Amino acid sequence: MLSNHLLPLFLLFAAPTIATPGFVAYKEVTCTKPVDIFTDGDPVPDNKLKIDHAVTDWNSHAAGHYYDNLTFPDAGVSGDDNKEAGTQFVYWSVERPDPGCQYILMKDTRFGWQIINPLPGTEILRVAEEGCYYTPLTAHDSLITSYCCGQGDCSIAEVEIQSNTPKDAMTGAPPACTIKSSAASPTIEDGQQIAITRPQTCEAAPACTHSIQLSTTVTTAVAHFNSYTWTSEMGTEVSFESGVDFLGATEKMSSTFSSSIAQSWMEETGSTVTVGNITAATEGNRQMSGTVAFYSFVPHYECWKADLDCGKDSNGNEVVLERISFCQPRLSSSGEADGIFSMVYISG
Ligand SMILES: *[C@@H]1O[C@H](CO)[C@@H](O)[C@H](O)[C@H]1NC(C)=O
Ligand SMILES: *[C@@H]1O[C@H](CO)[C@@H](O)[C@H](O)[C@H]1NC(C)=O
Repeated sequence: MLSNHLLPLFLLFAAPTIATPGFVAYKEVTCTKPVDIFTDGDPVPDNKLKIDHAVTDWNSHAAGHYYDNLTFPDAGVSGDDNKEAGTQFVYWSVERPDPGCQYILMKDTRFGWQIINPLPGTEILRVAEEGCYYTPLTAHDSLITSYCCGQGDCSIAEVEIQSNTPKDAMTGAPPACTIKSSAASPTIEDGQQIAITRPQTCEAAPACTHSIQLSTTVTTAVAHFNSYTWTSEMGTEVSFESGVDFLGATEKMSSTFSSSIAQSWMEETGSTVTVGNITAATEGNRQMSGTVAFYSFVPHYECWKADLDCGKDSNGNEVVLERISFCQPRLSSSGEADGIFSMVYISG
């Protein structure tokens, strides 16, 4: 991603600090007065959060560069507005990413990822152009920087574009699977971040509000990070691609492998497909003027892992799908999906 290879070598050695792109913190919308950043009380060099790991770099770097427990003592703090009390105003100067690449800034969350959510945190800023970008922060937030390049990788980060195409398109009846062994208790996981308003430009103060126009629900999901292909005893090709399938709202899902897995799970555990609505109840975060942003929601899920026994293959061997997660959205007592709302700032 870096354009180092285009630079003459002597330049690289002479000025190594230009080699790594980053989010550099400033006080105001013009990005002229720098703001010091501290991580666990230690200064961050050059007030710069380095962008040096890709969003697909899961194994070696957990999809980004983590900066724990950040404070910005000199950043502006919002006034008495309840919705934003304690919010610090931090502006990030960002250079232009290489063509086709985007820089991503995320907020770390308490819950797990990699089950349903391919992002290690909640996206708060994503940019493809150089500029000075605002994010609201609170002291002691932990942030994660990352980047993506190309349509495939960047689709992970483009949370405003939703698709729910079944991963396991198949012909004929899916094989019947039963639970072979499962975890006794669930883990709490972040679901995929969902855009609940369209990106909008806020031209002037007072800062724009967002009202939820997109009808969005959060539903039961089956998640699996391995792909499997086998020939059944009947001679049918069966394939099960890695990914997350959401059940419930879409009719399309009713005949898929995931839905068949979910069915057997629900029969054994006495649970049902759960659909939660996202309502505007907690809306209120306001968009800063002069920015482009959309409003988003990260649903919380409870996930159970299990190994499934799916009969025998054509050689008579038992087919076991390992570590399949069955996930239910957490709902409030009134049936609303439980989770976190936040603004995502993007380039225009
Ligand atoms: C966060 O950093 C502050 C210093 O800014 C330190 O006093 C505090 O103990 C840290 N918190 C955690 C949870 O490490
Ligand atoms: C969710 O929204 C749908 C459609 O607006 C509505 O019919 C349903 O009653 C809602 N469910 C809950 C639990 O509020």
